[in-house]
Amino acid sequence: MAKLFTPLQIGNVTLSNRIVIAPMCQYSAVDGCMTDWHLIHLGHLALSGAALLTIEATAVLPEGRITYADVGLWSDATETAIGRTLESIRRHSDIPVAIQLAHAGRKASTEVPWKGGAQIPSAAPNGWQTVAPSAVPFAPGDNPPVALQREGLTRVRDAFVAAAKRAQRIGLQAVQLHGAHGYLLHQFLSPLSNQRDDEYGGSLQGRMRFPLEVFEAVRTALPPEFPVTMRVSGTDWAPGGWDLEQTIAFARELEARGCSGMHVSSGGLTPAQNIPAGPSYQVPLARAVKAATRMPVIAVGLITDYDQAEAIIGTGDADLVALARGMLYDPRWPWHAAAYFDARVKAPNQYLRCQPRQHPRLFEA
Ligand SMILES: Cc1cc2nc3c(=O)[nH]c(=O)nc-3n(C[C@H](O)[C@H](O)[C@H](O)COP(=O)(O)O)c2cc1C
Repeated sequence: MAKLFTPLQIGNVTLSNRIVIAPMCQYSAVDGCMTDWHLIHLGHLALSGAALLTIEATAVLPEGRITYADVGLWSDATETAIGRTLESIRRHSDIPVAIQLAHAGRKASTEVPWKGGAQIPSAAPNGWQTVAPSAVPFAPGDNPPVALQREGLTRVRDAFVAAAKRAQRIGLQAVQLHGAHGYLLHQFLSPLSNQRDDEYGGSLQGRMRFPLEVFEAVRTALPPEFPVTMRVSGTDWAPGGWDLEQTIAFARELEARGCSGMHVSSGGLTPAQNIPAGPSYQVPLARAVKAATRMPVIAVGLITDYDQAEAIIGTGDADLVALARGMLYDPRWPWHAAAYFDARVKAPNQYLRCQPRQHPRLFEA
């Protein structure tokens, strides 16, 4: 039996296999509200046979959006829009659905990727003033962010808590905090973006303080069995930046505070990064976090082959694999992997007749 198709329990969520759909921004919301696109996109991924569907980076405050078209969860209207999408999905799929809660910090106020993704000046339409730990822009020449003061930190922390409560209220089953890819929480962690001289900067303890405060506040606001995970960049891939050793220290602090799992990605903090991209290139980072903690660990990044995924789970490098681009390219990837390993997946009743003749036991009865 392939290890990829063994179940895993995280808190009160039962994962039927080890395949996670990674969060993927769609830049298709209006005023933070999900649209028809989200129902089409998440709807078809909900039929994929994966163990968990993660909703894209969802901003906890309007100014925390990467672009003006990001999904948000900061108001009744944005909550209703997600709730409506989830309700429709629920009629046809019982896949557990998680949400990634995010604040883009200094990487906010940009154009959508297919229009170039450049920063939009704060005074221009669809632009706004960004905030960050320090007034250091992401790219040279960008409008610098405003450094968050005590009141701003409290506002951001409380917004994460409020969004997490909204997520639970509408029936989402897990919350992931976005501490990766150079967004706000990662900006606090990395010495390249955090140049504060107060208690939220300086030493590793200081740089971890705000992300840990946010985590603790969210963890405390939700029932203990409700999974709250953290996505991190295991390294900035840049000299003087955040690295694996600090990631492990952060993971241990999170574990001590009741973190339900670590999703280990990398990069995104600085344009000066030098990423050795290739198959499984981030798996060594996940493996190191797994070796240092007892939390479930998710590996991600150019995991595309069935045997490759099985090897990651089977050798104990990680407990789960996440796929992003691979799931967009082949939304039935988990079906095909199950067929390859002679394992079982759930398929909707409407599609049961497509089970291939050579795989007569592929679909769960
Ligand atoms: C279209 C797209 C949108 C993404 N949006 C997010 C996001 O919202 N949050 C996040 O943490 N990562 C995001 N990512 C990164 C993926 O979750 C993933 O870590 C990355 O693509 C590497 O995995 P892959 O090789 O399987 O694509 C996005 C990637 C893609 C391709």
